[in-house]
Amino acid sequence: PPECDPDQMETGREEILMATSADATLRVFRFQPGQDEKPRFDTYHVQAKSGMTVLDALFQVLDDQDGSLAFRYSCRGAICGSCAMYINGSYRLACQTQLANLGAGPVSVNPLPHLPIIKDLAVDMAPFFDKYEKVMPYLLGEERPPEKEFQQSIDQRKKIDEAIDCILCGCCYSSCPSVWTNKSYLGPAALTKAYRFVADSRDKAYDERLAIVSGEEGVWRCHTIFNCVEACPKKINCTYSIQELKKKTLTRRLKFW
Ligand code: F3S
Ligand code: FES
Repeated sequence: PPECDPDQMETGREEILMATSADATLRVFRFQPGQDEKPRFDTYHVQAKSGMTVLDALFQVLDDQDGSLAFRYSCRGAICGSCAMYINGSYRLACQTQLANLGAGPVSVNPLPHLPIIKDLAVDMAPFFDKYEKVMPYLLGEERPPEKEFQQSIDQRKKIDEAIDCILCGCCYSSCPSVWTNKSYLGPAALTKAYRFVADSRDKAYDERLAIVSGEEGVWRCHTIFNCVEACPKKINCTYSIQELKKKTLTRRLKFW
């Protein structure tokens, strides 16, 4: 048999790569508070392989071109919510967004708007999680747990099926004009979590939860703007959850009267 020709093999590999790749341009938001006077956009060219995501492209930049670029990620599988960004004018998960689906032209990559910037694409999620904590995001069941598991019927479970899918990426929160104008508003993610427990047949803190969401910072600050629905990468209808809480809050108040 003919001997292997390493040069030939190298050429072959390049040809395969060329057949599945094209260049892509990223315009990436850069800003380090305390060091930079103002934000800027840096332009990077990456070799976009087939199936490549925006997160992959950012890694290519980090590894090969600019080790100072900051961004956040964890699971790389659209499940942890860490890589939420504002990409080409839409809220997206960088690990779920393929470059090929963003059309021709440069891809603009920005941090989540309306949250304090730590560095470049990494924002401070503390305001988001502070509010999340306020709605008691955990099951408050019977004082004595049942001997076996808590059971639910299929219909009972269906009521929370959608809200339970929230991955806490912060896209809805970042997109909500009511949050922008009233920093104390709990926001769509926290309220959807509150609804998730209010609607859960196993939870026993119904009144306490409604008292929290009916306060100054709660559901009545929502003006049904629907940005949150459009922004959610998991297609959760936060507005529906908030409207359900409004109905329950009102019914509870009427009962008291
Ligand atoms: Fe904001 Fe969504 Fe209500 S965008 S105002 S929480 S419907
Ligand atoms: Fe976890 Fe993107 S890295 S959702």
